[in-house]
Amino acid sequence: MRLKHRIAVVTGAGQGIGRGIAETFASEGADIVINDLEADSRTAEVKKVVESKGVRCQVIAGDVAKRADVENLFDQTWKLLGPADILVNNAGIETIVPFTELTDAQWEAVTNTNLKSGWMCAQSFCKRLIAEQRKGAIVNIGSIQAARVLPGRTHYAPSKLAIEALTRNISAEVGPQGIRVNCIHPGLIDTPMIQWVLQSPDILPQVIAQISLGRAGLPCEIGAAAAFLASDEAAYITGQSLYVDGGWVGK
Ligand SMILES: NC(=O)c1ccc[n+]([C@@H]2O[C@H](COP(=O)([O-])OP(=O)(O)OC[C@H]3O[C@@H](n4cnc5c(N)ncnc54)[C@H](O)[C@@H]3O)[C@@H](O)[C@H]2O)c1
Repeated sequence: MRLKHRIAVVTGAGQGIGRGIAETFASEGADIVINDLEADSRTAEVKKVVESKGVRCQVIAGDVAKRADVENLFDQTWKLLGPADILVNNAGIETIVPFTELTDAQWEAVTNTNLKSGWMCAQSFCKRLIAEQRKGAIVNIGSIQAARVLPGRTHYAPSKLAIEALTRNISAEVGPQGIRVNCIHPGLIDTPMIQWVLQSPDILPQVIAQISLGRAGLPCEIGAAAAFLASDEAAYITGQSLYVDGGWVGK
């Protein structure tokens, strides 16, 4: 159990990759805070699965693109479970809009959710750790689109490439305090977000043909990589971005 006695906050953990990470971390012994926009039947289901692994779990709802909700997420975490050791910035949205039709509101929604949230959560988390002289680990979730062009994502792709720079820069500033910061770029992962791809007989074969392993990945496979980066096995790894994409970006 690589994460025993650790407390992990996972944003956007009501479904998909966040859920996979929360469940994998719980299997590794971590207590879990499930964050999502609402406390609903999805978060209740994830909490049930997490608790069945013998660890503590709290659902703390909030929009991580909003500063007040971010501060509340960490205030409540410290109050309900204790000081957190691990933060996973996973919450994200993707919309597909041709570049010339993209509006200010669409740009802001994607960049605020995918990038600003990561900065605010990391800052709130790190300030608390530094004040308490505690070490910790952050895993940011980027995307294959940091390195691959998919049409209609002139807002989404920059938000994900920027997470690499965010990861490097934060890691340099908090490294001396013993806080490590790394990034995972997932490829095609079987979640609600991309069901429209997985269920399209036209698009799916074109995407799968670009992936060396010839299949979509599973949320638990991102969870396994995140558990490694959050654990002491990765004690000398910081500021890095790892593609977990079945061999898409390298093909
Ligand atoms: N699925 C893929 O193929 C894939 C590939 C590359 C990157 N990603 C990234 O992985 C992350 C998770 O994606 P997924 O496929 O699981 O998506 P998903 O849509 O299935 O799940 C995302 C979860 O985040 C929550 N969320 C959205 N905005 C939020 C906010 N402001 N505050 C709190 N919670 C919020 C949603 O309610 C949802 O439960 C995202 O950052 C996404 O960009 C996914």
